[in-house]
Amino acid sequence: MLSYRHGFHAGNWADVQKHSALALLLNHLRRKDKPFCILDAFAGDGVYDLAAPEARKTSEFQEGIAKIWQRRDAPAGTDWYLDRVRALNSEDMLSRYPGSPALARAALRVTDRLILGELHPASHQTLKRWAARSRRIALHRRDGIEFLDALIPPPIRRGMVLVDPAYEVKDEYETLPPALARAMSKWREGIYAVWYPVLPAGRHAAMIEALARLPAQAGILRAELSPPSPPAAGMQGSGMIIVNPPWRFAEDIAAAGDWIARALWGDPPGRHNVQWLAEPRA
Ligand SMILES: C[S@@+](CC[C@H](N)C(=O)[O-])C[C@H]1O[C@@H](n2cnc3c(N)ncnc32)[C@H](O)[C@@H]1O
Repeated sequence: MLSYRHGFHAGNWADVQKHSALALLLNHLRRKDKPFCILDAFAGDGVYDLAAPEARKTSEFQEGIAKIWQRRDAPAGTDWYLDRVRALNSEDMLSRYPGSPALARAALRVTDRLILGELHPASHQTLKRWAARSRRIALHRRDGIEFLDALIPPPIRRGMVLVDPAYEVKDEYETLPPALARAMSKWREGIYAVWYPVLPAGRHAAMIEALARLPAQAGILRAELSPPSPPAAGMQGSGMIIVNPPWRFAEDIAAAGDWIARALWGDPPGRHNVQWLAEPRA
């Protein structure tokens, strides 16, 4: 039984980190005229209503996107992400938030494609309505790992995969690295972006070690954001692993993360670290 619903968490500080990294990747892909394909294996609802009972119950977005959505001084990529948030809302009222499918959709040109996977019946229905009549978007209701096995390599060989599980089922930490290894054996040049939470149980550590051994020609990057005083229980950090990041992406995500750590928490700022788990091969 799937119980996780992203509506409780949409726009929180982890989403801000994840979605600004996604925005940077999308902006890199848009720099060339060649078509690209985005695969989003755990897509969520597409767009979130921040006035809905789920969002109001936790108000997590108040400690995330609500603090920064009107800022006009963000570095390139993050400014594009904030523009997408502003485009969904009136000037002074934050009531809707774009999930990863909405950000990816906003980046598509006529020749680009977006392939979404989502298993939860309600989220899948919401996505289906949202994506109806778009010929550039395909939607699958299937398990995220099966999605990766079935849909990689995509028909357009330039692009990226977002892997953003709920980690509700604890073996996801173990099943993801071999699934990505299988995907890379079929699509070596793809960019793979994996989000993970830093929780007190520390289950992410072994997953990161396994991901660091993937055979990535352009290297493997880790970026992690945490609040100035992480809670003893609950989410202590939000991380992204980027396999085969584009050229100069390490500098871009460092600048974005430093800006976010200050913009969200002020003084003292949060911490943002970027490190190569595997250097690009010569
Ligand atoms: C963290 S949320 C995704 C958020 C979305 N990627 C975004 O950034 O806006 C994880 C999603 O995975 C879905 N999910 C849970 N288990 C799944 C599975 N085994 N396969 C595919 N989707 C699953 C949940 O319903 C949830 O919508």
